[in-house]
Amino acid sequence: MSQHYQHDVLVIGSGAAGLTLALTLPEHLRIAVLSKGNLANGSTYWAQGGVAAVLDDTDTVDSHVEDTLNAGAGLCREDSVRFTVEHSREAIQWLIDQGVPFTRDDQTAHEDGGFEFHLTREGGHSHRRIIHAADATGAAIFKTLLEQARLRTNIELLEQRVAVDLITERKLDLAGERCLGAYVLNRASGEVDTYGARFVILATGGAAKVYLYTSNPDGACGDGIAMAWRAGCRVGNLEFNQFHPTCLYHPQAKSFLVTEALRGEGALLKLPNGERFMQRFDERAELAPRDIVARAIDHEMKRLGVDCVYLDISHKPADFIKTHFPTVYERCLDFGIDITREPIPVVPAAHYTCGGVVVDQSGHTDVPGLYAIGETSFTGLHGANRMASNSLLECFVYARSAAADIMQKLNQVSAPANLPTWDASQVTDSDEDVIIAHNWDELRRFMWDYVGIVRTNKRLQRAEHRVRLLLDEIDEFYSNYKVSRDLIELRNLAQVAELMIRSAMERKESRGLHYTLDYPEMLPEAKDTILRPPIYGD
Ligand code: FAD
Ligand code: SIN
Repeated sequence: MSQHYQHDVLVIGSGAAGLTLALTLPEHLRIAVLSKGNLANGSTYWAQGGVAAVLDDTDTVDSHVEDTLNAGAGLCREDSVRFTVEHSREAIQWLIDQGVPFTRDDQTAHEDGGFEFHLTREGGHSHRRIIHAADATGAAIFKTLLEQARLRTNIELLEQRVAVDLITERKLDLAGERCLGAYVLNRASGEVDTYGARFVILATGGAAKVYLYTSNPDGACGDGIAMAWRAGCRVGNLEFNQFHPTCLYHPQAKSFLVTEALRGEGALLKLPNGERFMQRFDERAELAPRDIVARAIDHEMKRLGVDCVYLDISHKPADFIKTHFPTVYERCLDFGIDITREPIPVVPAAHYTCGGVVVDQSGHTDVPGLYAIGETSFTGLHGANRMASNSLLECFVYARSAAADIMQKLNQVSAPANLPTWDASQVTDSDEDVIIAHNWDELRRFMWDYVGIVRTNKRLQRAEHRVRLLLDEIDEFYSNYKVSRDLIELRNLAQVAELMIRSAMERKESRGLHYTLDYPEMLPEAKDTILRPPIYGD
């Protein structure tokens, strides 16, 4: 039987954004944190490089802001960038206070006024400003925040709960626009339960799984973006999909990222004949922003007809490599590649969703009571290309500002009453799961082929045609069969793919991560692509 639950705050997502928000709220609030798989299944756990922040005395907020604006190719919102960077130090201090074991720097400790933690460098940054825990920063942060959350009796951590859709006053034909909760599939019982809450937070991560090759874990299906869209929220800049330049190329290595910090510490990109090539594309060579490096690799691979290029750090001392990059070292060794002695075969793969649900500086969406934080949101920080390690920073800064906003509004909002139970009376068990698997594959393949690193009008039109057919088929499936995690994800992925394609078709220029052969130039004026859901009537 399906259940009804009531919380003060419903947080959908247990990554960096969701856990930070839950931990920042006061302990008298009853909070549920949901994850659709196990609690560690988001991207946060896999983050390697670190968190960008102004921490060194010789670094400045202006410099971090300027680098971010440059990487964003004229499309960042300067107020969001400044807001994020200005709050970076306190966000890191909060993480340190929670107990995150960031790597310390033996050499610059204290006496010269230097920062006590080791700071590394990544593409686009003009300064060493990435604080990290070796090359497994996400795991260190996630474990620490989870440990803290487990100590809090007011936080319920619920695994294998897949949010299906948001419940809003509009959907229930009530007066008002407020978000009242969500319908959530409990994978253990197979039932869709009703979660009512005074405040609902989407912290559901990105949508890179829309592409065939991705650095992201399986759950990165854009669920939050699709749910927010269906609930009446605007979405922004979804044409900007970031491809990480260096994912391990090996038939058995599913989605393994080789951190950009390797290039920050001197690793060189090479062609199969050992020749360097990045200096032909940008004066910053290996440390150019990601869009430039990924496009250069794609160009060289197509020019030479090769399957991969190589990333070489073997000229550095073996001890240095093993200490700074133990995860990459071990993982490559598993595949027979000793990175202290030989180059690593690498290819670009879909990595980060720069656009998302439009929010203000408190993470608030267009629907009252509904917030979006972390990778699922569109704050204006990343513009046309996210700078490395600004993403985790955004999770912490906006989760904390959303929590502050909720605390201010607490007394104005009461608990929603009498939410209807999910209606499963018209659906049956599916006997055709093969269709779901087939549609998943088809979607991810045509997004890779037609909406990838280099686009054209024709390719986008092809993708648009196919996604519309898929959406119709999925709609029919959704109306007739019981929901499963696969079906929910496919429905969301197809919706987000459609929004990405539409956004890409609206942009008649090349800018940052959106590169099209039909409009290779950048227009003089930088404009966001904001899509409005049908309820706006335009
Ligand atoms: P996630 O950590 O992705 O968490 C999403 C959560 O939402 C999960 O708990 C998931 O179960 C839940 N969820 C999703 N949909 C539903 C649903 N329908 N119902 C219930 N729960 C749901 N960024 C950096 O700044 N620095 C780095 O070094 C870095 N390295 C990276 C390395 C890799 C391999 C990857 C993949 C990303 C990296 N990034 C990095 C990006 C960064 O990790 C992510 O942007 C960030 O972790 C996103 O955090 P989040 O809290 O928004 O979402
Ligand atoms: C990496 O470690 O290269 C990933 C950093 C990021 O995505 O910000």
